[in-house]
Amino acid sequence: MPRASQSIHGIWGSRLTFILAATGSAVGLGNIWKFPYITGENGGGAFVLMYLFCILIVGIPIMMAEVLLGRRGRQSPVNAMIELAREAGAPRVWGLLGWIGVVAGFLILSYYSVIAGWALEYVLRVGEGTFIGAKSEFAGSAFNELTASPGRLAFWHTVFMFMTMFVVAKGVNRGLEAAVRILMPALLVLLMILIGYAVNSGSFMQGFDFLFSMRTENLNANSLVIAMGHAFFTLSLGMGAIMIYGAYMPRNASIGATVCVVALLDTLVALVAGLAIFPLVFANGLEAGAGPGLMFVTLPLAFGNMPFGSFFGVLFFVLVSFAAWSSSISLIEPAVAWMVERFGMSRVKTSIGLGIAVWLVGLGTVFSFNIWKSFNVFGLTFFDALDFLTANIMLPLGGVAIAVFAGWVMREPDVHAELAIESKTIYRTWRFLVRFVSPAAVLFIFALTMYRYFTQ
Ligand code: TRP
Repeated sequence: MPRASQSIHGIWGSRLTFILAATGSAVGLGNIWKFPYITGENGGGAFVLMYLFCILIVGIPIMMAEVLLGRRGRQSPVNAMIELAREAGAPRVWGLLGWIGVVAGFLILSYYSVIAGWALEYVLRVGEGTFIGAKSEFAGSAFNELTASPGRLAFWHTVFMFMTMFVVAKGVNRGLEAAVRILMPALLVLLMILIGYAVNSGSFMQGFDFLFSMRTENLNANSLVIAMGHAFFTLSLGMGAIMIYGAYMPRNASIGATVCVVALLDTLVALVAGLAIFPLVFANGLEAGAGPGLMFVTLPLAFGNMPFGSFFGVLFFVLVSFAAWSSSISLIEPAVAWMVERFGMSRVKTSIGLGIAVWLVGLGTVFSFNIWKSFNVFGLTFFDALDFLTANIMLPLGGVAIAVFAGWVMREPDVHAELAIESKTIYRTWRFLVRFVSPAAVLFIFALTMYRYFTQ
C-alpha cells in the first residue's frame, strides 16, 4: 500500500520542526520540576543512574517505535493503530492502545495544568520583588500559602488550560513552531546562568555529589518503578503524544537520528536543572526530599539573593511556563485529533469541549493540596494517585504495547522501510531492544514492584 505523505491535520515544515516540537513536548515540568524533586525523594545518585539506564534501554528504542507507528499511521493514535493493525492482519483491538493513550493524556494534563499554574503565579510573585533578600523559611511559607488556597490554584489552572486550548484550537503548526524555536534555547541559557550562580554558592560540589554519587540508602521499593515511569514521562512516551507528532513528520526525515537528538536534549535539561537546584538546597539548609515544592522554594531564594534576581527570576518562570505550555499541547493533541477525525467536528469546538472536561478533573488536583488533603487513595492524595497511575502504570504499559506492536505484530519489511536505517548493526540492535529487552525490562520492574508491594 502506498504510504500517505500527509495527515488531514497538517505536517511539520521540516525535520527541524519535528525536533523542536518533540523537544518542546519532552522538555517541560518533568525536567525542571519533577526530576529534581523525585531525585531528592529517592536519595540522588543511584536513582539518577537508574533513570539514565531506563532512558537508554527503554526510552530511546520505544520512542523510535512510537514515532514509527505514528508516521506510518498518519492519524490520531486510535485510528492509526486500527489502520496499522489492519495492514498487519492483526485484530482491531489494537485501537484500544490508542484509546488508553488518549485517556492517559487527558488525565496527565488535568494535573499538569495545576502545576504549570504555580509557575504562572511565580512569574508575578518574583516580579513583584516578594523574594528579595528572603530567607528559606519565608520561601517555604510562601509556597505553602499558595497550595493552601483553592481559589488561587483554581485561578491559575484556569489560565493555563485556556492557554493550552487556545493553541490547540489554532492548530499545532501555526503559533507553536515559532515560539518553541526561540524558547527552547533561551531556557537552556537561563539554566546555565542559574548553574553559574549555583557554582558560586559554595555548595555546588555537594549538589553535584548528591546527583552523581552512588548512595543507596534512600532508595525504596518504589524507586525503580518511579525511575522508569519518569523515563516515559519525560520523553512524553507511551500515550500517543509522540505518535501523533510522528504522524506530522515528513517522510524523508530519519527517525533514529531525530529521536536520539530529542532524548539527548531532554536529558541534558533535566541534569542541568538538577545541578542548578541541589546546590541551593544544601547551601540553604533545605530538605532534598521536600517533594513537589522543591523548585518553588529553592529557586525564588536564589533569585531573591542575586543581582538582578527579580529580572532573571521572572524570565525563568516565564520560560518554565512556556516549556510546560509546549508540553501540555501534546498531551491533548491526540484526543483533539481523534475527535476531529471521528465526528468531523471543528478543532475549535473540540478544544472547548475537551478543555472544559480536563479543567473539571483538574479541580481534583487543586483540592488535593488543601481541602482534600487528608482524603486518601491507597495512602496517596488524589494528585499523587493520579500521577502514580498515569506515569508509573499507564505510560509504561502503553510503552510495552507499542514495543510489542512494532517488534512482533507489524510486518518486518514495513518496519524496515519506515525506519530506513542504513546501518544493519544499528537496525538489528534496535530491533533486538524493542522486541526483547525493552518489554522485558518494563515488565520485570513491574513484577518486582508488585512483589515488593505485596510482601512488605
Ligand atoms: N514530557 C513532558 C514533561 O516532561 C510532559 C508530557 C508532554 C508528557 N506530553 C506527554 C508526558 C505525554 C507523558 C506523555 O514535562
